Amino acid sequence: MNNRWIISPVVRATEKALLAVPALARLYMAPYKTVVQKEIKLAGLRPGERVLQIGAGSIPFSAIYLMKLADVSVCAIDIDRGAVRRAREWIRRLQLADRIQIEAGDGRSFPVHGFTAAFVALQAEPKREILAHLLRAGPDGFRIIARQPRKKFSSQYSMVPKNWQHQGEIKQPMITFSSSLLFTKNGVGAKPQPTG
Ligand SMILES: C[S@@+](CC[C@H](N)C(=O)[O-])C[C@H]1O[C@@H](n2cnc3c(N)ncnc32)[C@H](O)[C@@H]1O
Repeated sequence: MNNRWIISPVVRATEKALLAVPALARLYMAPYKTVVQKEIKLAGLRPGERVLQIGAGSIPFSAIYLMKLADVSVCAIDIDRGAVRRAREWIRRLQLADRIQIEAGDGRSFPVHGFTAAFVALQAEPKREILAHLLRAGPDGFRIIARQPRKKFSSQYSMVPKNWQHQGEIKQPMITFSSSLLFTKNGVGAKPQPTG
């Protein structure tokens, strides 16, 4: 059986349910602080940049940590309009709406004009098409960070194609994903900072 159709709805439902208990929602976000911190270093993000995050979910923790830890402004998109509505409300409650914009959109086609980097959530799919779009539409030096699922979860999450050459990688000790990969359009742009 292909568990993708089980795991993804469960995660989406969990995020939705946790919003009813803000303390639990914050607890759910916490492990991703280190994940995003490493991704910020890998991408070499600088304060003031404007970044796109693909796959906001109902609790847009990646967008929140990107904004807080890197001092960037973020547009987080989701293909699911219910998630967009809930994420907007959560951002409004946290009083972060001036720095984090939540929009309905598909990572396979969302315009990248004005963004310097994109961060792709583990559950965003299909990764091949999303990355192909970002690499095609982004300017030279555009950085893309994508979370690569562990091999044992390859039936549940869309994988970054193995034979696609990435310019950087940082290990992530998470149950479902093992690393974050850096792709840089035409191999130019901001030099990634050393990762710890
Ligand atoms: C459950 S969330 C987890 C993300 C998490 N909240 C974060 O901040 O990283 C993953 C989301 O990706 C969305 N998604 C999947 N494929 C997508 C695509 N092609 N474009 C935009 N969003 C997508 C799903 O609708 C889902 O809400």
